[in-house]
Amino acid sequence: MPKIKFTIITLFPEALKPYLDSSMLYKAQDRGIIAIEYVNLRDFGLGPHKSVDDTPYGGGDGMLLRCEPVFAAIESVKAVNPDAEAILPTPVGMTWNQDLARQFAGVDAQSQSQEAPERHYIILCPHYEGYDERILTIIDHKISLGNYVLTGGELPALILIDSISRLLPGVLGGETSALIESFSDGDNLEYPQYTKPADFRGLKVPEILLSGDHGKIAAWRAEHSGKKAN
Ligand code: ADE
Repeated sequence: MPKIKFTIITLFPEALKPYLDSSMLYKAQDRGIIAIEYVNLRDFGLGPHKSVDDTPYGGGDGMLLRCEPVFAAIESVKAVNPDAEAILPTPVGMTWNQDLARQFAGVDAQSQSQEAPERHYIILCPHYEGYDERILTIIDHKISLGNYVLTGGELPALILIDSISRLLPGVLGGETSALIESFSDGDNLEYPQYTKPADFRGLKVPEILLSGDHGKIAAWRAEHSGKKAN
């Protein structure tokens, strides 16, 4: 059983698959730690054209996602797993951060137990100019990726899946790498790191890191852990 299953409801599964089937997220799926399922919203569209959107009541530009296809798609997933939680990426949601990523991954302090519960997230990717407000009644979590507007929910879906999955045990190589790195310790950023060569075009690796003195290296790293720029 995967630790987390993601069901992505999207009109553009082909935009998501190349990223999710590469690198660490491929490995996370291959190792059975996460599972990713795609539901094409078009399959729940209305009429001969499988329409999923319409013009706003009261006038205005653009098209809005209709309720019927979205409810039908989410209900089809919840019919199989009533505990699945629906996430809507939207600029008016809670701003995503590392603490939320930990909570959703089930690795935060409160839910810290060796036996992380199985979780199932449905990520609805809106498109067009927006969605019918009544869709919010079937959504458990509204998440914003930041104070800017994207054309759809696919990029947010990738970011949510990536930032959650990498926290699960067994996804990253080093057992501790997810723990020590940027943002894992409040607003402290990771210390600067270097690899070979020790001298690149006259740019030298700090002497202390080559010294083999673990105490001094730890002190240097603590001293050089950065703070956020804003
Ligand atoms: N959809 C459009 N813009 C978005 C944002 N900033 N965060 C999440 N979903 C979005």
